[in-house]
Amino acid sequence: MQQTLLEIKNLSVNFLTINGTTQNAVNNISFTINRNEVVAVVGESGSGKSVTALSILQLLPKQIVNYPNGEINFYFNNQKQNLLQLNTKQLQQIRGNHIAMIFQEPMTSLNPVITCGNQVIEAIMLHKKLTYKEAKRQTIELFEKVKLPNPSNILKKYPHQLSGGQKQRVLIAMAICCQPDLLICDEPTTALDVTVQKEILNLLKELQQETKMGVMFITHDLGIVAQVADKIIVMYKGNMIEENSTQQIFSAPQQPYTKALLACRPALYSKGTKLPVVSDFLNNPQCTPLLHKILKQIF
Ligand SMILES: Nc1ncnc2c1ncn2[C@@H]1O[C@H](COP(=O)(O)OP(=O)(O)OP(=O)(O)O)[C@@H](O)[C@H]1O
Ligand SMILES: [Mg+2]
Repeated sequence: MQQTLLEIKNLSVNFLTINGTTQNAVNNISFTINRNEVVAVVGESGSGKSVTALSILQLLPKQIVNYPNGEINFYFNNQKQNLLQLNTKQLQQIRGNHIAMIFQEPMTSLNPVITCGNQVIEAIMLHKKLTYKEAKRQTIELFEKVKLPNPSNILKKYPHQLSGGQKQRVLIAMAICCQPDLLICDEPTTALDVTVQKEILNLLKELQQETKMGVMFITHDLGIVAQVADKIIVMYKGNMIEENSTQQIFSAPQQPYTKALLACRPALYSKGTKLPVVSDFLNNPQCTPLLHKILKQIF
């Protein structure tokens, strides 16, 4: 039986703007993530993907964010907690220990003046209350697990001395050090080249299968979620417009926007052709026959 891990219920997120008005970033969205399930959240830039993810961990600036309605229920240790109602101390217990996050840009997520090893060691010491020696041993094990070459050597390196893919592996090691129940990946491979992207995706999938954690995988690239996600949620301008199994989304997308997203995948076009964007399909009814033709090519 599937066990619910996270349940987002009618969540809306507003920001207070500089001139005193409110701007709606996420509008009444609802979805669940089960244990051992990978849920991809896709949508173009500004559709509300990161705002949703950051709301889960309550990482948006308190002074300007407001939740007019909704719940974010997290199920752990046989209890249900609405994350919107927890205080800072309670949230600290959950962040890192039960819910971890990997961000898009590894260089800005790592501290440039602390060695990669010490950054992971510190995280382990803080969350697991272990000695430096034991945390160091676990860090080397984690570096092996995320397939970093020569772990004891990487331990002593500063972030700028590693490649983009290696830095992302260090971040993954840090994220999984406490065996979280839920891992949120916000465009974890966007800054990487295609080959490294694939390696990191494979690694994340492998770790997910091994630990049975739930994963929320954010991306604007539908192409890459096909191999990792069980379920896909499509967002557009703060709204959730479609939710279905990966197989259904790829074989029978319902919404024009989802069809347009599928049709805009770069691999379909030969070199030198101008790539269409989603609005080309949404704003121009004459594109419908072209869209059908493209969808036929895909399936
Ligand atoms: N700290 C903030 N203050 C005010 N508005 C914000 C803030 N963060 C996000 N927004 C607004 O919320 C909306 C959704 O942004 P969000 O970052 O969730 O987009 P996204 O789907 O993650 O896009 P991308 O693919 O570019 O990362 C945007 O209109 C954005 O301008
Ligand atoms: Mg984002």
